[in-house]
Amino acid sequence: MKKNKMLHVNRRSWASNMTNSPTLIIMVGLPARGKTYVSKKLTRYLNWIGVPTKVFNLGQYRREAVKTYKSYEFFRHDNEEAMKIRKECAIAALKDVKTYLLDENGQIAVFDATNTTRERRDLILNFARNNTFKVFFVESVCDDPEVIAANIKLASLSTCYLQEVKVSSPDYADVAEDRIMDDFLKRIECYKVTYEPLDPDDCDKELSFIKVINVGRRFLVNKVQDYIQSKIVYYLMNIHVHPRTIYLSRHGESEYNSLGRLGGDSGLSHRGKQYAEALRQFVEEQRIPDLKVWTSQLKRTIQTAEALGVPYEQWKILNELDAGVCEELTYSEIQDKYPDEFALRDQDKYHYRYPGGESYQDLVQRVEPVIMELERQGNVLVIAHQAVMRCLIAYFMNKGADELPYLKCPLHTVLKLTPVAYGCKIESIYLNVEAVNTHRDRPLNVSLTRTREEALSTVPHHKILETVP
Ligand code: SIN
Repeated sequence: MKKNKMLHVNRRSWASNMTNSPTLIIMVGLPARGKTYVSKKLTRYLNWIGVPTKVFNLGQYRREAVKTYKSYEFFRHDNEEAMKIRKECAIAALKDVKTYLLDENGQIAVFDATNTTRERRDLILNFARNNTFKVFFVESVCDDPEVIAANIKLASLSTCYLQEVKVSSPDYADVAEDRIMDDFLKRIECYKVTYEPLDPDDCDKELSFIKVINVGRRFLVNKVQDYIQSKIVYYLMNIHVHPRTIYLSRHGESEYNSLGRLGGDSGLSHRGKQYAEALRQFVEEQRIPDLKVWTSQLKRTIQTAEALGVPYEQWKILNELDAGVCEELTYSEIQDKYPDEFALRDQDKYHYRYPGGESYQDLVQRVEPVIMELERQGNVLVIAHQAVMRCLIAYFMNKGADELPYLKCPLHTVLKLTPVAYGCKIESIYLNVEAVNTHRDRPLNVSLTRTREEALSTVPHHKILETVP
């Protein structure tokens, strides 16, 4: 492959000393190398940990510019008219990147395109330099004949993005599958003619990048510049694409749940124990190979897991959100003792931190290692708590800080998460054991001057005393 040594960009001069600059992540790789999958997944993670991030997909700009896709001929490097359109699309996308990072408080933009030529990458590097953006490349490379063969035969889930994404791409609406494959393979060949992979030994040695080789079998990491880039590298090294299912459940109803009390460390109520038994049956019926079970270190999750009769692991970081001075109180007691705190929490539930306790924002940071380990694992059942489950679901379902603290996680209901092309399918399975409702919606009036009645208007009903048959 010809190496372009006459670089258009002085790669060293601008890559340092921009600690607070926004970052542009530039995807690199042939079509069907999982770039869009990685772009979306990484973006979901970064937003979840609180770094505003957005994907800019060049294919969408091209489809906007050229309404009807005809064939792979569009992607030939000697198709001058098409090359001109493709460059214009890239410039339009970069213009939107600039608006996002400079005017809309974006922190990271992911430029999801093939970017397979050094000429195209230099155009983007120049753009980044002019705007003092940091740049990090993520290249997906496949050189293993087995992986490539598997890709082409659509034989394994490691290639599900090829099957599920490209075949259902808007380019190929209403086209027969064999014709899609034929056209798509020819499209890949067009890109191969001019593909210049990132070169860690020479031309690109001053750039910051990770090469993901053969869907995560190996990695090559070069010149990581800062904390966020190292987090990106760590994340990309932990994710996998093997089929698996994640089950999320709260503990069975606890004695405090049935009394409407927050937190604490009470054991299961009678109905909570019935749920633990129902969960055991459910898990058996699902016949889940190599299922791992994780709990918190609080009694109610441990008692629920004990009923399953399988080994389980306890994680302290799965403990429920710490309500500080409000631990073990009912909502009415919180209103009576700390009315201002109660209103402040309703004003911004995600960021509000209980005196002596935690906020949802704190909790997301706390459970991040759980997410990372879930990404590494196969089938897992997590038995946790309402606020913890909300944080985990928000990650998988791409929910922001406004929605997260109000996500519905009822007791005695298993949430089954299955990865699909670009995200997760979620099924909610109620195991038919009654329980109290612990979900309190945001009241209409969140001001400090609201009445007691207004503050308590959305408190769910609880039994005063549990009736044990
Ligand atoms: C596309 O037009 O579908 C992608 C263009 C590219 O990234 O090369």
